Amino acid sequence: MASIFPGLGWILGFSFICSSLFEIYRRHLLYQDPIAKNFIASELYRTAYHFQPTQHWMNDPNAPMYYNGVYHLFYQHNPDAATWTANISWGHSVSADLVHWTGLELALTPSDPFDISGCWSGSATILPGSKPVILYTGLDTVSRQVQNIAYPKNLSDPFLREWIKPRYNPVIEPHGRIDAALFRDPSTAWLGRDGSWRLTVGTVIDGNGLAMLYKSKDFVKWVPAENPLYYTNGSGMWECVDFFPLGEARGVTKYMLKVSMFDVSYDYYALGTYDEEGGVFTRDDASSTDYRTWPMIDYGRVYASKTFLDEAKQRRILWGWSNESNSIADDVAKGWAGIQTVPRVLSLDTDGKRLVQWPIEELESLRGEQIHLQDIELETGSQVEVRGLKVSQADVEVEFELQSLIGAEPFDANWIVDPPKLCREKGAYANHGGIGPFGLLVLAADNLEENTAVYFRVFRAEGSYKVLMCADQRRSSKRSELYKPASGGFVDIDIKKERKISLRTLIDHSVVESFGGGGRTCITSRVYPTILLNDNTHLYAFNYGTETVKISELKAWNMAQAQIS
Ligand SMILES: *[C@@H]1O[C@H](CO)[C@@H](O)[C@H](O)[C@H]1NC(C)=O
Ligand SMILES: *[C@@H]1O[C@H](CO)[C@@H](O)[C@H](O)[C@H]1NC(C)=O
Ligand SMILES: *[C@@H]1O[C@H](CO)[C@@H](O)[C@H](O)[C@H]1NC(C)=O
Ligand SMILES: *[C@@H]1O[C@H](CO)[C@@H](O)[C@H](O)[C@H]1NC(C)=O
Repeated sequence: MASIFPGLGWILGFSFICSSLFEIYRRHLLYQDPIAKNFIASELYRTAYHFQPTQHWMNDPNAPMYYNGVYHLFYQHNPDAATWTANISWGHSVSADLVHWTGLELALTPSDPFDISGCWSGSATILPGSKPVILYTGLDTVSRQVQNIAYPKNLSDPFLREWIKPRYNPVIEPHGRIDAALFRDPSTAWLGRDGSWRLTVGTVIDGNGLAMLYKSKDFVKWVPAENPLYYTNGSGMWECVDFFPLGEARGVTKYMLKVSMFDVSYDYYALGTYDEEGGVFTRDDASSTDYRTWPMIDYGRVYASKTFLDEAKQRRILWGWSNESNSIADDVAKGWAGIQTVPRVLSLDTDGKRLVQWPIEELESLRGEQIHLQDIELETGSQVEVRGLKVSQADVEVEFELQSLIGAEPFDANWIVDPPKLCREKGAYANHGGIGPFGLLVLAADNLEENTAVYFRVFRAEGSYKVLMCADQRRSSKRSELYKPASGGFVDIDIKKERKISLRTLIDHSVVESFGGGGRTCITSRVYPTILLNDNTHLYAFNYGTETVKISELKAWNMAQAQIS
């Protein structure tokens, strides 16, 4: 063809170059214009398999439940804008597998004197005879926080679309010394051996966070118990308290108390025992009353988490809200804000001393093309690229093997209360440590100008070793106005015995959700790399410590898009 029409190839080529140049120019223009930039961002930073509504604002997950073969997820939602406002409603989505979701009409909207200023967080309980009921916080006509009930209008509707609020609401009002502006988020109720229901609601008195306990025989009239279920000294307001039995360790069922600490925006948990008669929870670890020493659900951007018992598979599943790390103006330009973590199965570690979280197995149905690497020596100062996948939408599982612990840096006991500070000061790149930093560089530019480092570092403490896990977002994007912290927590693992540590990282455009040490420590980051604009992201495994680390195995998968309408 080229010999017959010598000019044509050239013309086609020229027009191709022109349109490519134009495309580059257009992207350049869009990138320069802050609103247009966010328009691009709104598409590229949306998640493919982390739950989010099609538009507008979302915060806490509410009343997750499994009922008649359908999973329900409700969520705090502003149906009109991407910002949080006074008139919050309940969004509602249903699913058969916890992966693909169908959005339904709003389940609860401010409508009655007891919730006219907002329908805030709450939980579901399935009553005997298979009757679901929701308890939630309403903001009444004078913005008092009161606890209300709602029932499905039609139990034959497989999706429970419509909910009825009985006239006798509210069922619990602020009382005694409780501040009416700090009293919210009723938990799922549980039935005692005496035939009475119990539930807990979070509040604060004199700066001390409290999980108030209430009892009821008929689910309508609720009476405060003599003592709170639990409280701590000086932690500030507790939100979204969750309380439930978890697993069996040495034949004993543990109880888990989860509280969302409003002042610091983190979710903490404690494992212990529950004395039903006395109505009190006792922590197993009594070594410190300082709540800051409690383990966290997630050491990154996860808050207001909530669990439910999945009767279909007899497992306890946790959802958590992950908020944006950009500005409110960015959210407005994007038209959306807030995602949920992937549903995580909760279990106890074999010795019953800590929580283990792991993505639900259903998520693996989205796994596509796979990369499998084995036995790679990561010498000091080296990195290995994981090629052949779309690494902005992937699931990565890697196991690191430590040949020796001799080079571990000494640990200063003062570091125990502030792992993020340790992550910030030690850093992922400079400051070559002993054992580590080693881990993954995700959503990375080929010159590493942008990347999010998820990594470990091993320290030698008195008679044991400490393993630090960090997610350093400080280089996650060239945009300077974003919130880009270094997050971190310790991994409670006997590294001397195991000599191995695993990392699973779910990468989904603007979220990096990581599970360290088999799910003992989790860190979720929200990042907005500019390289996503050209879909030119890379994934590396790295070791910038002074000791060689081996990757015994690395598996990575492309993740398909979940259907979320
Ligand atoms: C809440 O809704 C009411 C009624 O629609 C409206 O008058 C009020 O301005 C709204 N408040 C906010 C903060 O959006
Ligand atoms: C209840 O839901 C079922 C199933 O969707 C429907 O057939 C029935 O008409 C509904 N009943 C009422 C009173 O709306
Ligand atoms: C509670 O905290 C205050 C100051 O934060 C302290 O003075 C007090 O001793 C603490 N009480 C207990 C029981 O730990
Ligand atoms: C949401 O994100 C910001 C950073 O953008 C953070 O400072 C804030 O504490 C977060 N809020 C909650 C409730 O998690």
